[in-house]
Amino acid sequence: MLSKTYPRICVTGGAGFIGSHLCRRLIAEGVEVLCVDNYYTGARSNIVDLIGNPLFEVLRHDITMPLFIETDAIFNLACPASPIHYQYDPVQTTRVSVDGSINVLGLARRTGARVLQASTSEVYGDPAVHPQPETYLGNVNPIGIRACYDEGKRCAETLFFDYHRQYGTSIKVARIFNTFGPHMQPNDGRVVSNFIVQALRGEPITLHGDGSQTRSFAYVDDIVDGLIRLMLSDEGFTGPVNLGNPTEISMRILAETIVDIVGSSSELVFRPLPQDDPRRRCPDIALAEQALQWKPTVTVRDGLERTVAYFSKTLAA
Ligand SMILES: NC(=O)c1ccc[n+]([C@@H]2O[C@H](COP(=O)([O-])OP(=O)(O)OC[C@H]3O[C@@H](n4cnc5c(N)ncnc54)[C@H](O)[C@@H]3O)[C@@H](O)[C@H]2O)c1
Repeated sequence: MLSKTYPRICVTGGAGFIGSHLCRRLIAEGVEVLCVDNYYTGARSNIVDLIGNPLFEVLRHDITMPLFIETDAIFNLACPASPIHYQYDPVQTTRVSVDGSINVLGLARRTGARVLQASTSEVYGDPAVHPQPETYLGNVNPIGIRACYDEGKRCAETLFFDYHRQYGTSIKVARIFNTFGPHMQPNDGRVVSNFIVQALRGEPITLHGDGSQTRSFAYVDDIVDGLIRLMLSDEGFTGPVNLGNPTEISMRILAETIVDIVGSSSELVFRPLPQDDPRRRCPDIALAEQALQWKPTVTVRDGLERTVAYFSKTLAA
């Protein structure tokens, strides 16, 4: 049981989209949660329902600064994740991954805590191999406008594995693919939240390129479940392991599905592709299936229905 193995868990980035779902799930399992966040892209509204719960505590802190707390395990999720946010201050984005990882790994080393890094499919860059297995080394432009995030996350993985080899730190690395669900920010430029907000407002839906580029979207509950399974996995299993939905969907079909769920009259409009935007992204999840007995259980349509319901309530408020 999670709360027996790890009675106190620190979640960095706990006020963000995935982090807030993770905090909620950990508390439901009886774990004492310390949410560490500087609210750079997270929001108090994501965790407001947890404030006052005796198992929950928030620390406003920037993980590029050292952190001195006691904990049994750490989920390191702190990092702006949408291109609009991570490109706003690219130097800080690299620092969150590099300095932040050094601080979190230092904390794990001092306390003996197990530490899990929320890495990303962006470490594969614009991949030449489909679907992407963990053994694929990637195709990242180190000087492009996405590099602060992609190379930052790659360096974070390097640091995790070097702490593991050099100091014996207990590490886990999850490569998360596109995730969606309630608590995404309505204005963060991510495709699912963008399309839903545009459809709910009856505005034109903006597609980049001709809309034939594909992504694979996993519902947030499935990703949280995968992260917890990874944290609980045998000491010998470090990852990196892909967590994502292997079903590919084109941006055009995604937009049409959202328009259909919302019952919106929005039309689709087409804009140029952003620089270094990958054409395809799809996880090979064989390793997660075998090592974690994990695979997504929520269909994209079901997840979109739940997310549309959330945004329609939030926008109305
Ligand atoms: N959402 C996805 O599709 C996706 C895909 C791959 C990887 N990830 C990774 O998962 C993690 C969470 O992503 P998310 O979608 O929830 O993003 P998010 O932006 O909603 O959450 C990130 C959280 O980290 C906090 N944060 C940022 N910089 C910080 C700092 N210096 N110190 C303390 N807190 C800081 C933010 O305030 C926010 O609450 C990120 O590390 C991201 O790279 C997400």
